[in-house]
Amino acid sequence: MKMNENFFISKAIDPLPYESKWEAPSNIALIKYWGKKKLQIPKNPSLSFTLDKSVTRTSIRFEPSKSGKFNFKFFFNDSLKPDFDDKLHVFFDRIKKYVCWIINYELTIKSINTFPHSSGIASSASAMAALSLAIMDLESYLFNFEKNDFFFTKASFLARIGSGSASRSIKGPVTIWGDNRKISNSSDLYAIEFGKDLNSIFKSYQDIILLVDKESKNVSSTKGHDLMHSNPYAEKRFLQARRNCDSLIPIMKSGDLDAFIKIVELEALSLHAMMMTSNPYYILMKPNTLSIIEKLWDFRKGKNIPACFTMDAGANVHILYPSEYEKQMIPFIDQELSSFCKNKEYIVDQVGAGARKLD
Ligand code: DP6
Repeated sequence: MKMNENFFISKAIDPLPYESKWEAPSNIALIKYWGKKKLQIPKNPSLSFTLDKSVTRTSIRFEPSKSGKFNFKFFFNDSLKPDFDDKLHVFFDRIKKYVCWIINYELTIKSINTFPHSSGIASSASAMAALSLAIMDLESYLFNFEKNDFFFTKASFLARIGSGSASRSIKGPVTIWGDNRKISNSSDLYAIEFGKDLNSIFKSYQDIILLVDKESKNVSSTKGHDLMHSNPYAEKRFLQARRNCDSLIPIMKSGDLDAFIKIVELEALSLHAMMMTSNPYYILMKPNTLSIIEKLWDFRKGKNIPACFTMDAGANVHILYPSEYEKQMIPFIDQELSSFCKNKEYIVDQVGAGARKLD
């Protein structure tokens, strides 16, 4: 069933102490979200692989507020991190309408990431997803309901309000966020699972993340989305993304890897084309990004292995391939691609099942 915003507004209730810990994965988009209306309402649907090993683990201790005011403290890797307070304040202000019981609490939030800091993996997706799940955990305890579809859908809805791509980090192995005419229950408000029709080849896909650059980006994703408002190619890009999404849906069912590769690589390069045609223009790819792409294309042609690349808003390259090719791919990556990475570093990840509660 498709839910509208009113489904997600909860009642107020007296606070009870509670503690909850969740692990949520990062994700890599195959159809890219780039351009939005307010509060992360996307201009086009996006579709992603949920990752397995690149996760955020977040615990929240909820205490009834002694001062009668909402408050929180945020720790990252066991140190108090006030740098994140502004972003978190904005998030809590935005979600209060939907979880109004939260205003009676003081929160102690503790987070860690399993992937290296500034590795280019979008930590806001896994971080906002884990945070939203811990909040929903308390809501389900206070209002005594199961961790059912509504629970995860509302978690995705709250995560989206924190960061658009975070809506896709609740479930796995493949999720879709954004209205799509081919999938009747798809929504701009939250992500849904691709569903049972997903071809089994995609359930064990590998994602090797080549760390070309570990510096923080000189243009943030927030700014990048914003520049789409004045990009002269924006409307065409949203149309292209909608069409690519329509084309990818049957491919995710049939497992046609040649067709999969064409769409996934086109999406990655189209995303970066939008950056280069924004005003002011900018380039996040590095020379080594292009060297990796060329090497991969040569390898694919020579060996006939269906490996392809994608990128998010950065210089790093994700190499995607079915797990059965691991024996050929890992030596190729080690010997021919890792030299283009900072300190030869890369992350071996794969498609995962989604977030889970920790004890
Ligand atoms: C290139 O979700 O990070 O990774 O909604 O402003 O937080 P905000 O942006 P964000 O944008 C992600 C952009 C992307 C593509 C994608 O993940 O779909």
